[in-house]
Order: sequence, then structure tokens, then C-alpha cells
Amino acid sequence: MSQQYQHDVLVIGSGAAGLSLALTLPAHLRIAVLSKGDLANGSTFWAQGGVAAVLDDTDTVQSHVEDTLNAGGGLCHEDAVRFTVEHSREAIQWLIDQGVPFTRDDDPDHEEGSFEFHLTREGGHSHRRIIHAADATGAAIFKTLLAQARLRPNIELLEQRVAVDLITERRLGLTGDRCLGAYVLNRHTGEVDTFGARFTILATGGAAKVYLYTSNPDGACGDGIAMAWRAGCRVANLEFNQFHPTCLYHPQAKSFLVTEALRGEGAVLKLPNGERFMPRFDPRAELAPRDIVARAIDHEMKRLGVDCVYLDISHKPAEFITTHFPTVYERCLTYGIDITRQPIPVVPAAHYTCGGVMVDAQGRTDVPGLYAIGETTFTGLHGANRMASNSLLECFVYGRSAADHIVDLLAHIPLPEGLPHWDASQVTDSDEDVIIAHNWDELRRFMWDYVGIVRTTKRLQRAEHRVRLLLDEIDEFYSNYRVSRDLIELRNLAQVAELMIRSAMERKESRGLHYTLDYPEMLPEAKDTILTPDK
Ligand code: FUM
Repeated sequence: MSQQYQHDVLVIGSGAAGLSLALTLPAHLRIAVLSKGDLANGSTFWAQGGVAAVLDDTDTVQSHVEDTLNAGGGLCHEDAVRFTVEHSREAIQWLIDQGVPFTRDDDPDHEEGSFEFHLTREGGHSHRRIIHAADATGAAIFKTLLAQARLRPNIELLEQRVAVDLITERRLGLTGDRCLGAYVLNRHTGEVDTFGARFTILATGGAAKVYLYTSNPDGACGDGIAMAWRAGCRVANLEFNQFHPTCLYHPQAKSFLVTEALRGEGAVLKLPNGERFMPRFDPRAELAPRDIVARAIDHEMKRLGVDCVYLDISHKPAEFITTHFPTVYERCLTYGIDITRQPIPVVPAAHYTCGGVMVDAQGRTDVPGLYAIGETTFTGLHGANRMASNSLLECFVYGRSAADHIVDLLAHIPLPEGLPHWDASQVTDSDEDVIIAHNWDELRRFMWDYVGIVRTTKRLQRAEHRVRLLLDEIDEFYSNYRVSRDLIELRNLAQVAELMIRSAMERKESRGLHYTLDYPEMLPEAKDTILTPDK
């Protein structure tokens, strides 16, 4: 029997964005935080690098803003960049206050009074400004915030809950457009429960799983983007998919990222013959923004017909490597690669969705009562190419501003009453799950082949044709069979893929992460690609 729940705030997603928002809200509110699988399954847990912020006295807000604008290929919204960077110090202080064990600066030359934590560098940053917990920053943040959330009786942490769709007044045929909660599959019972909420937050991460090769964990299916789109929200700039330049290339290493901080601390990229190649592509060499480095690697791999390039930090002292990069060191060692002595085989892989659901500075979407934060969103911060480690920062800054906004509105918004149960009367159990598995594989493969680092109009047209066939097939399946996690994710992924392809076809230029051989130049005017759903 399906259940009905009521909360003041329903947070869909249990990563940095969702947990920071939940912890910032007042303790008298009833909050549900949903996770599709186990709580730690999201992308936050796997983030290695850190959080970019203006922390050192020698750094400035202006410098961080300018670096972000430069990396963003002319498409960042300067107001969003400034808003985020101006709140960066306060966001980091909040994390420190929660107890996040950031790495301290043990440099013997550390000056009295200067910032006490170690700051590293990553591509595009002209200063050392990445605060981190060795090379497992996401795990350290996640564990700390989760421990804090577990101490709060008003926060219910619910695992194995997969949101199927948002409940809006429009969907129920009522006057108005407000979001009233969500239908959620409980994987323990197999039932779809009804979660009514005064405010609903999408904090579901990105959609890198749309590609065959990705640094992301399995859940990165664009759920929030697809649900928001179906609920009537605009999305923007979904053609900008960031490929991380250095993921470990090894047959058994699924999705393992080799953090950019290695390059920040001096690692160099080499061809199989040992030649360093990045200086030929950009004066910043290995520390150029990610779009440039990933494209250079792709170019060299195709030119030489090789399967990978190499990232080499072995010239640094072994002790430095093992203390700064224990995660990368240990993981590579399990595959027989000793990074203190050998270069690491690497390839680019899909990493970050720069576009998403359009939100304002309070995280509000186009649908009243529905907020979105983190990678699910388009805030204007990332432009055509996100600068490394700005994304976790965005989660904390917008998590707080959304929480503040919700608090301001609380008195005026009642709890939704009498929401209808999910109707499963017309569906049966599927006896053809092979279709789901096949469509997953097909989608991710053609997205990789046709909507990857280098695009052409012809390839995009091929992808568009295929995604439309898949969408029809998935729709039919969805209408006839009981929902499962795989089906829900596939439906969302295919929807987001279609939006990505459509956005890529609308952009008649090359800019940042969107590079097409048919329009290799950048147009003089930078414009967002905004898609509006039919209502
Ligand atoms: O390379 C990294 O550690 C990734 C950082 C990021 O995506 O911001």
C-alpha cells in the first residue's frame, strides 16, 4: 500500500547541495532528504579536488571573478559569479564550523596570521585558492554534513527513494502552477508514495551518465533537470558538458578521476613517447581551463591513434605525492601503477553538466515552490566551461540563499492537503527489461560518439534522430509497466539527452565546451541557449 507523507521541505538529493540546504534551515521545520540509493552514492562523495574560495590575503574577489569569467568563454553571468565568489569565504567558514577536516598548511615557512589551511591550484585559477581535504574533499565534506544531519531530529534521511515526478497544481488540473511535492518510488516496498511539501528542492546533481565514459557515479542521470522540464521549467546551456581531462585509463578502473590538483602541484601530460604536449596548445599548459586540456588530449589521441596519454608526477618527492594524493596513489597501486615512479595512463571522460534548470540567486525555478541547487541548475556561474572547484562552492552559496528565501516565505505557504495517490491501476509488471538495458547502452554510446568533445551538425542530427526513437519507446514502456529505478533513470536520461542535443544544434558557433567542426569560430555576441517547455 502506498504511503502519504507531509513535510515542510522535501529535498530530493543527499549530496553537498541538499545536505547544506537542509542543515541551514531552522530546526523546527520537518525536512525529508531523499537518496535514490544509499546516502553516499552521489557525486559529492567522489569529489577529489576541493572548493574554490577567496581565502588567502594575497587573493581577491576580483581575481577569482576574472578567472571564472575567462574560463567561462564569455558566457558567465557576471552578477552570478560575483554573488558566488563574494560569499565564498563565509561558505568555507560554515564548513569549517560544521567540522570538515580540511588539510592544514604545514609549510615551515607558513607566515603567522596567514590562512591556516593548505590551498592548492587547479586549471584556470591564477591563485592558490582550492581548500581541500587531501584528495578526498567530497568524502570529508559529505561525511561531516551527514553526521550533522543525523544529529538533527527534524531531518529525516530516507534511502532507496527514487523521485518519479513532481506534483504540481497544473498536473492535478488545479488553478495555479505551484509545486506541491513529488511522487517517489520506495525501493523497499516497490510502491510509489506521495510526498506533499510546502517547498520542494531539486538537488539531484548532473547528467554525465548520459555518456558512455564518465567520472560520475551511476546515479548522475539528470533526474532533477528532466523532472523540472516536465513540470514546466526552462533549462539553459545544456550543450556545455564538461569532459574532465584526466580519468584513469585501465580496463578495471570504472569512473576513476585523477584529480586536477595533481597538475596544480606540477604533474605534466605526456604522449606515449614521453613528449610533453600541452605547451603547444596553450601558454598555461597543463593548467589551462578544462575545455582546452580535454580537447588537446582528444586531438593528440586521434592524431596518433593511441588509447590514452600519460599524467606524470613522478618527478616530485614520493612523500609529497603520498601525503597530498593518498586516494589516487592507493587506487592506482591496486592496478599496478606506482605513481611515485610511473606516469598514469589517462583519458578524458564526461564529468560535469554546466547547464541545467534556470534559477535565480535564491535558487527559485520557474515553478513556484520549486527550488533547485547545485549541478542540477543553471545559475549563470559556469558559462561555457566551469572552472575547477567552483561547483561545490555553488552548492553551499546557493544552498544558503535558497534556505534563507524559504524561511522568508514560510508563514505564507500552507501544507498541501489531500494529494491524490499515484495511479498504478493501468500498469503491469514488465517481462521485457532487456529493452531498458539495451536503450541505456544505446543512448550512452551514441551520445559519446555523436555529442562528445568534438561535434558536427551531421553527428548531432544522427543523435537527434536516435534519441527521438528512444523517447517514444521509453514513453510506451513507462505507460504500460510498473516503474523501477532503471526505468525512471532511463526516462530522465533520454529526456536530458534530447535537451542537450537540441541545445547543441541551436548553437551555431564553437565556444568553451561546445566545439563543432561546422562552426569552428566564436560569434561576437555571447548568448545563452534557453529552452522553454510547452505547457
Ligand atoms: O579534478 C578534480 O579534482 C575535480 C574538480 C572539479 O571537478 O571541480
